[in-house]
Amino acid sequence: MSFPAELLEEIRARIPVSEVVGKRLKLVRRGREFLGLCPFHSDTRPSFSVVDEKNFYHCFACGAHGDIITFTMEIEGLSFPESVEKLASMAGLEVPRQSPEAREREVARKTLYDVMEAASVFYEKTLWGVEGKAGLEYLLGRGLSERTIRRFRLGFAPENRIALRQAMTIKGVAPEMLLETGLLRKPEGRDETFDYFRSRVLFPITDRRGRVIAFGGRIMGDGQPKYLNSPDTALFHKGRVLYGLAHAREAMSKGDDVIVAEGYMDVIALAQAGFPNAVAPLGTALSEVQIAELWRLSPEPIVCFDGDAAGQRAAARAVSRALPILKPGNSLRFVYLPPGEDPEDLLKRSGSNAMRDILASAVGLADFFWETELRAQQLDTPERVADFVHRMRVRVREIADKTVQEAYNDVIERRIRLMRDAGRSRGGRSGKSRGLTLERPAPRGSATARARVMSVLGNRQQQSLMAAFITHPALLEEFGEALGYLRLDDPFLDNLRQHILESTLSEPGLGPVGLRHHLKGLGYSDDCDGLLSSATLGHAAFARPQASVEEAREGILELLARMGKHQLEEQLAEAQQAVEEEFNETNWNRLESLRAALAAVNSGSPLEEAL
Ligand code: UTP
Ligand code: MN
Repeated sequence: MSFPAELLEEIRARIPVSEVVGKRLKLVRRGREFLGLCPFHSDTRPSFSVVDEKNFYHCFACGAHGDIITFTMEIEGLSFPESVEKLASMAGLEVPRQSPEAREREVARKTLYDVMEAASVFYEKTLWGVEGKAGLEYLLGRGLSERTIRRFRLGFAPENRIALRQAMTIKGVAPEMLLETGLLRKPEGRDETFDYFRSRVLFPITDRRGRVIAFGGRIMGDGQPKYLNSPDTALFHKGRVLYGLAHAREAMSKGDDVIVAEGYMDVIALAQAGFPNAVAPLGTALSEVQIAELWRLSPEPIVCFDGDAAGQRAAARAVSRALPILKPGNSLRFVYLPPGEDPEDLLKRSGSNAMRDILASAVGLADFFWETELRAQQLDTPERVADFVHRMRVRVREIADKTVQEAYNDVIERRIRLMRDAGRSRGGRSGKSRGLTLERPAPRGSATARARVMSVLGNRQQQSLMAAFITHPALLEEFGEALGYLRLDDPFLDNLRQHILESTLSEPGLGPVGLRHHLKGLGYSDDCDGLLSSATLGHAAFARPQASVEEAREGILELLARMGKHQLEEQLAEAQQAVEEEFNETNWNRLESLRAALAAVNSGSPLEEAL
């Protein structure tokens, strides 16, 4: 289904982005833009900016970016045509009729959801009735409370091979629909259809909005297959779904980490034990789509797979899937469960406090990656050590994001050095590198750690630039967009850059005093950990508090032209290419936004001004 471009334009012209977004989250106006807490990742700071004038929203923290149509699609889980129709009617616009076939497909899809819902109700009723006795006893016997069983809408498929078909026929559901949703099957060469699930307790699987799209059925006792899942259908694609997502999304509070377990029972047992923020893939390795979905819930999901070999292999596969798509700030963490225990076993044996301790001990992806690879092979000959070193370096290059790749490089190179030093200090034998203990990284965010990083990596120009924005925050009105796209290679300064943007975004018209107060609240010292000391400012007159706005502006322009422009141009070229490869609203808006940022940076150059 395609809509005329003018219709999309008209919709965007008539409905301000802030109106659509404002219905979902609280927005605070600041100058030309609005700010709020980003709905696409969990955050406590207002990194989410909405600019009506430019018809887009942008999150400085997670990079979410789009317009009212993408927002409606993402937040309400609607398809593109559904979103356009909804917005068009909001705008009082007539939508051209869809083709009859497309309309039919839409209607059919809606009714498939209805069929799944009706089946779910049937299975649930059965569980609590006479026929479901064995199923209910099985679930209670596994320690689930009645409340939990109801909350997850667990059900029971009776032994009778036509029970569902009969019940649904009475409700007027056509057998074709049941076949299409995978609830009936038609054995090869026969006309008759039979229920897909029989004699199993059923776990309804929902989409992120909580609509039932499939079932998983467990045999009561031993037998194969232990779990039978619905086949892939128009509604259900196994590799894209996370079990428990709708519940987790609803139950999570800001700042919670999402837990990724391996199975249905783990998710449910975790929820019952006070960890409602758990989800699971359905017996497959975590896919890129699933990882991206996890990142919408929290920046560093905790992968909590079984302590057995299969679980650890699955975790290693998750590492491989995650490496290429890591983003600044977005990663995975891993916990080691006792061998042979899954979260459900652990909760039963040791209780929720033990679980809490284990979650608190989660290690970062970089550590987990190194340790897993190290454990996978004997490093008892120089050739094997060399092979290991080589492989690690190759793996790091899988990381597509350049900033993250560099950071990994640093970590891996340091570890390789430590490993070699340890080998040498043992008389040149590299053999015992397995037992090597590694120094823990400095705690994140401590003031002394930050100061140290700065003194080693500090770059005077980048420092001056940040200092000038702190002493003259009014200039963020003009250069905020450019600053949003800039990346500083010193992590301290890059964090500070984010903090400055967030602070001024959260409070309209923040002056220098207010900004410094804000930064102090974020843990910076009075002189911003040395950044505003006379020693630092001695090199940059324009960044001093007593410099005029014009002086500060000149200085900022010069520095941005020297170091920022190049970066922006690079990103612009990428955005351009993205638009050429796929012309969609998001790519286009990003390009527009980068053009605006670059225009601000170029505004100081006499050549441009003359044009
Ligand atoms: P597990 O065997 O670890 O599941 O498989 P579990 O939840 O711990 O099972 P029990 O009930 O406690 O014994 C993990 C996941 O792999 C998928 C299911 O999604 C399961 O939850 N799986 C497993 C299947 O799809 N089919 C199978 O035959 C087994
Ligand atoms: Mn289990």
